[in-house]
Amino acid sequence: MSSSQANNAASAPSHNQLDTKAQAWSALFSEPMSDLVKRYTSSVFFDKRLWQADIAGSLAHAEMLAAQGVISAEDHASIQRGMAQITSEIESGAFEWKLDLEDVHLNIEARLTQLVGDAGKRLHTGRSRNDQVATDVRLWLRGEIDLIGDLLKELQISLVDVAEQNVDVILPGFTHLQVAQPVSFGHHMLAYVEMFKRDAERMADVRRRTNVLPLGAAALAGTTYPLDRERVAKTLGMEGVCQNSLDAVSDRDFAIEFTAAASLCMVHVSRLSEELIIWMSQNFGFIKIADRFTTGSSIMPQKKNPDVPELARGKTGRVVGHLMGLITLMKGQPLAYNKDNQEDKEPLFDTVDTLKDTLRIFAEMVGGQLNPATGKKEGGITVNAPAMEQAALKGYATATDLADYLVKKGLPFRDAHETVAHAVKAATTHACDLSELPLTVLQGFHPAIEKDVYECLSLRGSLNARNTLGGTAPAQVRVQLARHRARLA
Ligand code: ARG
Repeated sequence: MSSSQANNAASAPSHNQLDTKAQAWSALFSEPMSDLVKRYTSSVFFDKRLWQADIAGSLAHAEMLAAQGVISAEDHASIQRGMAQITSEIESGAFEWKLDLEDVHLNIEARLTQLVGDAGKRLHTGRSRNDQVATDVRLWLRGEIDLIGDLLKELQISLVDVAEQNVDVILPGFTHLQVAQPVSFGHHMLAYVEMFKRDAERMADVRRRTNVLPLGAAALAGTTYPLDRERVAKTLGMEGVCQNSLDAVSDRDFAIEFTAAASLCMVHVSRLSEELIIWMSQNFGFIKIADRFTTGSSIMPQKKNPDVPELARGKTGRVVGHLMGLITLMKGQPLAYNKDNQEDKEPLFDTVDTLKDTLRIFAEMVGGQLNPATGKKEGGITVNAPAMEQAALKGYATATDLADYLVKKGLPFRDAHETVAHAVKAATTHACDLSELPLTVLQGFHPAIEKDVYECLSLRGSLNARNTLGGTAPAQVRVQLARHRARLA
């Protein structure tokens, strides 16, 4: 139908079908909505992405209405037939979405009525768009959370792969971005695995509270029809039924919780991004990321810019912004449904899109892409182990080890700390590493120092010595790797 036909239909409503939304509540209204108000209030051009959830919810509702004897078996069959046709129309792109019909719900219901007549009009028995939209968003988000769970798993596997290849590679560990102590690069990667593991757990937790059925709350107070809400929940694979009709139609906690979990996940991506950007800068040169994740400069021919991690860092702000938007949306809303809630969709949709794209791209950028010919992943980050080790040798990263050595010789830690400070000062003066100071010089700081000190002053000795649960000793890192591998299998 052309837009002029749609407008005609608005001014001369047909009695058989719902052509425009004016007819959803028509008789009371003496003038049509202005085009500006229509555009302002309609959501169809973004909420149409809920169509599958909308149809699934309607089919479950219709099935239950028939089982309860509220509609006939014939009407139920007609609704099923109509929805099957609508599904194929939407899938093929033939379905005509109409701004006039405000949202996905009215568009689909109008088409159903066009296709199957009165049976279509009976579908809305015992239901309101208020419980319908809440159901649709929950169903849709549940599916997206599952996809996000898969992507989080892939990203963790990529990080574990890189960790496994780099257990024995030594990186300067930083605090305050100053060289602190040597750490295994594998250990460093596994720190991010822990973060994304918690993100996956949070997503699973949000899913539990999302997967609860509002349908049957109707507009706000429940309904006079003998609905079997538990049956609908079961049909839709939902874990329970919202127990208060007012809360059912107005609650958007699940959207806020999801966006909070997504924000935190993006913050983790952003931290990783920041490290990748630093590590691939010329002054560090610790890693390279594949060219396809970088761009050149239009003026400086030598440049390869880390656009993907930079954008991810930037998009974190966008997702955190959506969290602020959603949480502010709910502030001050009285019970029950208010049209404000229509504003939940764009931030939620954009959060999902941004997070999914980001996780997908990071899994590939970090771990590489599967080459079907070799069955191996290729093109992940390239690690420059000598550069990392060289950098670890620069900032007296084993000073703590020397202090620990003296403690084992009987010095109180505070005294050992002071003694080592003198040694570091001497090494700075000689422009050499602690391990390069001759034994006699070291013994000048404390007579208990013996030849075996050089073992603990080496990067590898320092690493191996941190052999406690969760520490960076390669033996510990391998224990953690095995734990993650088993968990992610
Ligand atoms: N498009 C609306 C939304 O997204 C559907 C619910 C409308 N309900 C209403 N009473 N106007 O929230």
